[in-house]
Amino acid sequence: MKNARIEILRHFLRASGQFISGSAIAADLGLSRVAVHNHLESLREEGFAFDAIRNKGYRLSAEPEPFHADLFSALLLEEPCPWFRGAVALDSVGSTNSEAERLLANGTDTPFLVIAKTQTAGRGRRGRSWHSPPDRNLYLSAAFCPSMPASRLQTITLWTGLCLCRFLRDSYGLPVMVKWPNDLMLHGKKVAGILTEARVDAETTRDLVLGLGINVNARPEDFPAELSGIATSLAIALGHPLSVSRLAHRIVRRLAEAFGEYFSGEFSPEFAHQWPEFDFLRGERVSTGTVEGRAAGIASTGSLRIERDDGSIALLHSGEVGLLKK
Ligand code: BTN
Repeated sequence: MKNARIEILRHFLRASGQFISGSAIAADLGLSRVAVHNHLESLREEGFAFDAIRNKGYRLSAEPEPFHADLFSALLLEEPCPWFRGAVALDSVGSTNSEAERLLANGTDTPFLVIAKTQTAGRGRRGRSWHSPPDRNLYLSAAFCPSMPASRLQTITLWTGLCLCRFLRDSYGLPVMVKWPNDLMLHGKKVAGILTEARVDAETTRDLVLGLGINVNARPEDFPAELSGIATSLAIALGHPLSVSRLAHRIVRRLAEAFGEYFSGEFSPEFAHQWPEFDFLRGERVSTGTVEGRAAGIASTGSLRIERDDGSIALLHSGEVGLLKK
């Protein structure tokens, strides 16, 4: 038996704002009219609005802004993304990366996605936690078994970041940039982060989970004190909130394109060509704590090039850099 709520939402998506009769939905899904009515009531409680007119039926007039697992699933069924073999959409999970790792260990077909409305133990890089309140943001992980050398893990993170920046610029006109190696920056503050985790056997990647956290609708007061000066959201920059489910659906489709290009090798010339435009650190004075100099792009491996004052180049393979005043 299919999930009735998802199937009902699919009918409304297909109707594109037009009225559809409750009895037609009921007949199509093999449900009683009362069952359809009850599902609509429970969807109303979750932020959907349906106009009802006698003899015409129902029309979807509003959707919840926060991520809604069934709406996301309905969108993905209506406009599928076959590159991913499956998608798990959840209300709450510890961490979408950890859940993806658990599913990989259970032999789930790859590539697949895990998306959640909230995370109770969201993880960031270097052992940090990722602030994951419900109702505002997007938490997503993509899992693969790519059989590629582990040395390429850096470039897949950078390529994903670059493709997301391009998507956010093209869709919303936002000047988002990548701060090597995994931050997406907007107006000088962090708007998203990527956590790439892999199991590696003898230099070959056995499996890989790429987790993405995007601050979508967080308001300034939603950030804890330690993040308030350094984090932002798409909604803060745009001045209005977005539908997290619809954004998630578009991002998943964009990610599939980006990964397809990456694994076919097509990305390489594009990456070299586009990186300077999206490089947040380009030309900036930076410090790693031990090396100080000017950020001078990246090497083909994805390592950061830092030009010291004496003109020599240091390559940073991992870690983080801080910006220094010029
Ligand atoms: C960072 O900037 O430190 C990386 C943050 C990555 C956060 C995302 S949210 C979805 C996925 N699940 C997690 O537990 N972490 C990543």
